[in-house]
Amino acid sequence: ADVHTADLVVFGGTGDLSMRKLLPALYHSDRDGRLAPETRVIALSRGGLTDADFRGKVDAEVRDSVPVDDPAMWQRFLGRLHHVSVDVGGGIHGGTDEGTGWKTLAGLLAGHEDRDRIFYLASPPRTFGPFCREAHEAGLVTPRSRVVLEKPLGNDLASARRINDEVGAIFDERQIFRIDHYLGKETVQNLLVLRFANAFLEPVWNSLWIDHVQITAAETVGTPGRRGYYDHAGALRDMVQNHLLQLLTLTAMEPPARNDREAIRDEKVKVLRALRLIAGGEVDRFTVRGQYTGAGDLPGYLDEPGSTPPTELSSRVETFTAIRAEIRNWRWAGVPFYLRTGKRMPYRRSEIVVQFKDVPHAIFPGGTPNRLVLRLQPDEGIRLHIMAKEPGAGEVALKPVPMSLSFGETFTARVPEAYERLLGDVLAGNPTLFMRRDEVEAAWRWIDPILDAWKAAAGLPEPYPAGTTGPAGAHELLGRSGRAWHEEE
Ligand code: BG6
Repeated sequence: ADVHTADLVVFGGTGDLSMRKLLPALYHSDRDGRLAPETRVIALSRGGLTDADFRGKVDAEVRDSVPVDDPAMWQRFLGRLHHVSVDVGGGIHGGTDEGTGWKTLAGLLAGHEDRDRIFYLASPPRTFGPFCREAHEAGLVTPRSRVVLEKPLGNDLASARRINDEVGAIFDERQIFRIDHYLGKETVQNLLVLRFANAFLEPVWNSLWIDHVQITAAETVGTPGRRGYYDHAGALRDMVQNHLLQLLTLTAMEPPARNDREAIRDEKVKVLRALRLIAGGEVDRFTVRGQYTGAGDLPGYLDEPGSTPPTELSSRVETFTAIRAEIRNWRWAGVPFYLRTGKRMPYRRSEIVVQFKDVPHAIFPGGTPNRLVLRLQPDEGIRLHIMAKEPGAGEVALKPVPMSLSFGETFTARVPEAYERLLGDVLAGNPTLFMRRDEVEAAWRWIDPILDAWKAAAGLPEPYPAGTTGPAGAHELLGRSGRAWHEEE
C-alpha cells in the first residue's frame, strides 16, 4: 500500500498513553519502513517543552522499551518528533496563552496541506469537543484531516452523544476514528477469520449447539495512582462498555456479506441493539459488582498508593464486574453471554470461551461437552477441547484433550501490538477496526440502566481479597444454573 506522508498531531502527547503505547508503536512502524520519510509526530501538551526537551524525554523514557538495533534509526525517529504547548478550552484567543500555541502549531503545519493530517486525542473526553472546535477556528482542519478519539467516549449515553455531536460538527463521520484497542489485538481479528473463513464452525455457532459464552478480561494490576480517573469510571465504563462488548459483538454477529468496513460494523451494531436491557430490580440478579480489599502485600482499592485520598465515591466504585447478558435474536435466544472483568485477579488473561452443549445421546460415561477457547492474551491462541479415549485396554475411559493452535509457535513473525496495527489503519484511512458512532451509542444504551441501578442501590460492591477471582456473587451468577467460570491454564 502507499505510504502517505502524514503529520500526526497528538494532543496529550507527553502523557502516559503516548509514552507507553503510541510512541513505541510509531517507532516499530518506522523501523519496519511503514512511515514515510517526511512523516512528523507533533506532541501537544501544556508542558512548555521545546522539541529538544521532548526528544530527550522520549529518549529517556521510551528507548529502553523498544528494540534499538541501529542508533541512526533511533535518531531518525527522534528527529520526527516535535512539541508545541497548546492551551485547549479557552477558545483560541482566550486561553491562558492567548492562542500563541495554536499559532505556533499553524506555522508548523502551514504549507503541508497536501499531507494526511491526523489529530490524535489522547486526552480526557471533555476536551474532544473544544479541541476540534479550536483546531477548526485556527484553520487547521483540512479535507485530508482525520481525528482519533481515545476511550472513554463520555460517561453515559447523553455525554457520548454530546461529544459525538461536537466532534461531528467539525469532522465527517468517515474522518472520525474511535479507538478500542482490543480491536487491534491479533486474536480478535483472528476470531473473524476463524468464524468466516472456515466451514465447520458456522453450522454449530448458534443456540442449538452452544450452551453459553464467557468473555473474561482479568488483570493482576490494581489502580495505583489512577483513583482520579477510576473513581468516576469503574470496571463497567472502563472495560465492559467498550472492550468486552466489542468482543461480544464479534463473537455473536451475523456473517457480513463482504469484508468491508460498513458491512462489518452494520452487523456489530445489530448485536448491540439486540442486547436485552437489564434494568431496575433485575440488576441484582444479572450483575455483580466487586471491589478488592487488601490481602497479604497487596493493598485494597481504598489504600492504593499514589492517589488522592478516597472519597465516598471511591467506596462505591466497582473494580470487578460480572454480568449475564442475553442477545434477543434468532441465533442466540436462550444462550447466556457471561462477561467478567476485574483488577487484582490472580492472573492476567483475556479470553472468549464458547461452551458447547453435551452430545445428544451419550454412549460413553464421563464425557464433558466441547469447549472452544480463544485466548487473546497472554499466549495468544485457539484451543478446542475435544473428547478422546485414554489409551489402554479394558473399559473405554474418556479424557478431554486440547487441539491447540498457538500463534507464537505457528507463526514466527513478530505479533504487532494493538496500537501499532490501529495507528497503521488510521494512517491508511481504514476505519474497519474502529467504533462507529451508532455502535458507541448502542453500547451506552445498554450500560446506562445498569449504572443507574447501581447508583440507586443502597449496598456497596461485594468485597473480594486482592489476588482472588472476584466476589462470591460472581460464582453464584453461573452456579445458579449449574455452570462455572473457565479457570484452567
Ligand atoms: C484500558 C483500561 O482500556 O485497558 C485499563 O483503561 C486496562 O484499565 C487496559 O488496564 C487493559 O488493556 P490490555 O491490553 O492490557 O488488556
